[in-house]
Amino acid sequence: MKILVFGRSGQVGGYLENYVTNLPQFDLVEVDRTDLNLLDTDRIIPFITSLKPDWVINAAAHTAVDKAESEPELCFRLNAEAPCRMAAACADIGSGFVHYSTDYVFDGQGSCPYTETDVTNPKSVYGKSKREGELATLKQLPASIILRTSWVYAKKGHNFVNTMLRLARERPEINVVSDQIGSPTFAGDLAQVTTNIISGISDGRFSHRGGIFHATGQGETSWYEFCQQIMKQTFDHSISVNPISSDQYPTPAPRPRYSVLSNQKMKEVYSQELRHWKTALGDCLSSD
Ligand SMILES: NC(=O)c1ccc[n+]([C@@H]2O[C@H](COP(=O)([O-])OP(=O)(O)OC[C@H]3O[C@@H](n4cnc5c(N)ncnc54)[C@H](OP(=O)(O)O)[C@@H]3O)[C@@H](O)[C@H]2O)c1
Repeated sequence: MKILVFGRSGQVGGYLENYVTNLPQFDLVEVDRTDLNLLDTDRIIPFITSLKPDWVINAAAHTAVDKAESEPELCFRLNAEAPCRMAAACADIGSGFVHYSTDYVFDGQGSCPYTETDVTNPKSVYGKSKREGELATLKQLPASIILRTSWVYAKKGHNFVNTMLRLARERPEINVVSDQIGSPTFAGDLAQVTTNIISGISDGRFSHRGGIFHATGQGETSWYEFCQQIMKQTFDHSISVNPISSDQYPTPAPRPRYSVLSNQKMKEVYSQELRHWKTALGDCLSSD
């Protein structure tokens, strides 16, 4: 059984390689932009149909949320048109398709965990492009599995954890936003859940159900508390972390104030849940 993964150099893509190669029934083909630049959208369908994979996983995306505000065309091409073409190719050749989306499809005005049926209202270019990607993908292939995740980090890569660790080494104190609430998600856990779903469908343990599924680390926190926990789990000495408001840290792209996602549907349909964010963080920080 062949699995084609887009985004091999990314946070989730990197861990997918580990998990998929551990499963003997799967033959992994992982590609990056040197194999196929996804902005070249006309090449996507012929690329996939020539490889004839049983599953396609799209871990590639335009994830630079602030930069996206000044390059919307590029962002929509990568986050909406590219997955739409991938889903069309999968529909043509009868492959399964897994795609990732974001908590930023919500406006953050809520105060209890969002479910998959809650109304979306993205405020940033990135959030709008990802929402368009969800809709376009499901239109082409309703059996697509879209995992909406949030606050993704990995051992390597450009992410909040690595940025805070760098700042802690460079500065006497760090100011971190305390009025945005969400759920940190370890990319390794998301990759493992993705692989579990695909292998469970492939060997008949799960019946294939398409649609949107929320898939985040368990629990919720603010960026400030997340940073405190990173410091606590890394350094023997105390690091001075100060809470600040979103107004004190303006960014080009607006962020939702509250974007916790209920993972109940994924638990019920595919018997999967990610670990609590604090447990996963500890594992990530202590890994090589
Ligand atoms: N990061 C988060 O906090 C977060 C939160 C919610 C949802 N998500 C979603 O989760 C998924 C995985 O995110 P991630 O954090 O693993 O992303 P990431 O680390 O930023 O990786 C993105 C991947 O996309 C590739 N890519 C970008 N432009 C490309 C192009 N033109 N052609 C081919 N490949 C291209 C990158 O390749 P290069 O290395 O060559 O650029 C990289 O492999 C995405 O769908 C993202 O929207 C992420």
